[in-house]
Amino acid sequence: MRVLVVGGGGREHALCWAIAASPLVEALYCAPGNAGIAADAVCVPVGAGDLDGILGFARDERIDFVVVGPEAPLVAGLVARLADAGIKAFGPTAAAARLEGSKAFTKDLCARHGIPTAAYGRFTDPAAASAFIEDRVPPIVVKADGLAAGKGVTIAETRDAALDAARDMLTGGRFGAAGEEIVIEEFLAGEEASFFALVDGETALPLAAAQDHKRAGDGDTGPNTGGMGAYSPAPVVNEDVAERVMARIVRPTVAAMKAEGAPFRGVLYAGLMIDDGEPSLLEYNVRFGDPECQALIVRLASDLLPALIASADGVLDMFDLRWHDDAALTVVMASKGYPGAYETGGVIGGIDASSAIDGVTVFHAGTEDDGGAVRAAGGRVLGITACAPTIADAQRLAYRAVDRIDWPGGFCRRDIGARAID
Ligand code: AMP
Ligand code: GLY
Repeated sequence: MRVLVVGGGGREHALCWAIAASPLVEALYCAPGNAGIAADAVCVPVGAGDLDGILGFARDERIDFVVVGPEAPLVAGLVARLADAGIKAFGPTAAAARLEGSKAFTKDLCARHGIPTAAYGRFTDPAAASAFIEDRVPPIVVKADGLAAGKGVTIAETRDAALDAARDMLTGGRFGAAGEEIVIEEFLAGEEASFFALVDGETALPLAAAQDHKRAGDGDTGPNTGGMGAYSPAPVVNEDVAERVMARIVRPTVAAMKAEGAPFRGVLYAGLMIDDGEPSLLEYNVRFGDPECQALIVRLASDLLPALIASADGVLDMFDLRWHDDAALTVVMASKGYPGAYETGGVIGGIDASSAIDGVTVFHAGTEDDGGAVRAAGGRVLGITACAPTIADAQRLAYRAVDRIDWPGGFCRRDIGARAID
């Protein structure tokens, strides 16, 4: 098969790494890819948001199967455009991608189908939003409806802070069109986890759970980021909890999307709050998490590609996946300053020495190749991933590998996995 992966981050490196190992692959391309992906796939200079460019490339190169990594091209309708051109793709249509593209859509779907989630209201009118906030007890959660690159959620400790957040979005244009509608919801206490399932429109095949670290600093301090590290499995998602997640959240969602005429195909990523073993849905994403994907994929013993194809073909009911018993843990190395302003261009040494450690894989995110030297080219730059019998072992191994990286312009958290180990 001739396969194209869309995207150029750590998640897409992990996808390319796994797909390149499939005996089904004759040629693998990645648009746009990065310096690390170039070892597994031919990188093509087409951005993940350039739908025309992707379509043209896939046609010209007679691509058989496209795997879409990030949410934006999914929400923009890439999968149906490829299908119209006769090209099969992994991922949801735009109608099904509303599960991530509109928080209000998802909340209403949960309400209609009895899926546990925080109580909420949805608003476009600032006066109605203010009145709703005045009646709530803080903390109050205010969310932009649309895609906001992970920055659209404010947890307000006071009513005034909630009023400010709602006003910034509804009248201040804070997230542009994504904030013209907002969801205001109840604060849920508990422990967060990410749960992933492959879905083919009808059948959901649970993958594994993971936990990520969203704050930039040790001890969960500092600003929110795309994710500074992750590990899998997630101890809080034991077998009972996983079955509850499937029975109460994932399967009802898949059935609801089918019944409502927008069957979901692709990977469904449920962001969960788990309180005393009872899961509630915080949000859906319609793609693999980054960096959760990196930690999941190294645990997968089966060939990934046939599973992605089965999701697109609607035959997951005949499918089973095997997993290694080992745990995995990913430490993200980012450019100093991230998620604020940072400098790029610094040379990164030690990648080969780091990945030479048995059980370690170094996934690239924002990197570029400069005549054989790897340079930093983004905020999140490397995902050092280790596999070992326990999360504690994987943590030790991952930091041993981190310490072999020679990159003065980078930083990482030193406590990834701490909660699972204590
Ligand atoms: P989201 O983009 O919806 O995942 O929100 C980002 C982060 O905000 C989540 O990972 C949670 O830490 C937090 N969050 C979102 N909604 C709630 C809620 N209703 N209660 C508590 N925390 C929340
Ligand atoms: N790690 C969080 C995300 O991918 O959205």
